[in-house]
Amino acid sequence: MRQLTKQDRLITELDQWVRALLVPDARACQRPSPGDAFLEQPMTLAEKRHIAGLMRVNHAGEVCAQALYRGQGLTATLATTREQMHQAAAEEIDHLAWCETRLHELSSHPSVFNLLWYSGSFVMGAVAGLLGDRWSLGFVAETEQQVSAHLVHHLNQLPSQDDKTRAILQQMNTDELAHADAAKSAGAAELPSVIKWAMQKISLCLTRCSYYF
Ligand SMILES: [Fe+2]
Ligand SMILES: [Fe+2]
Repeated sequence: MRQLTKQDRLITELDQWVRALLVPDARACQRPSPGDAFLEQPMTLAEKRHIAGLMRVNHAGEVCAQALYRGQGLTATLATTREQMHQAAAEEIDHLAWCETRLHELSSHPSVFNLLWYSGSFVMGAVAGLLGDRWSLGFVAETEQQVSAHLVHHLNQLPSQDDKTRAILQQMNTDELAHADAAKSAGAAELPSVIKWAMQKISLCLTRCSYYF
């Protein structure tokens, strides 16, 4: 196989950037949405708006996941770690697609700030990759755990009849916990409390902005 040049990798990253940010009518994914197994139930406009806000937040989180993994994949020292990060980003595409489908179904839209979230997360991922594989994996494990906590919080806010969104969020939560476990098993370092705290504050900003816009 041909060795990728710096230009090749740059073009690949630009391609991934565009693919993550441009929302197609139906994004190709490996698994169908868990929500497809359920029928849409009657909901009030206020309920639909709230669920759309939550799904916009989750979609923005998945945009960040794409960027974090791609950024880490770019700067990871070991080729195997680079490949692992690219594989993880590919797996997260299912989540991105499921959130987009649910937003379409609710006649809503992704966050207008997604370009900002992607760019910031890409830089954070690239810096984590430069710190070495143990720290990079520690960053993955902590990110996935924080995402899982958000998903559980959102699950508790869903109207009881919204089986579609519930099925999506439950499967996403199962996947994110598995991603966190995989990172720990691969030797993730425990991040300092101050870094975890900073990550929570950044995530709070993303959550508040993406819910409305
Ligand atoms: Fe995800
Ligand atoms: Fe994940």
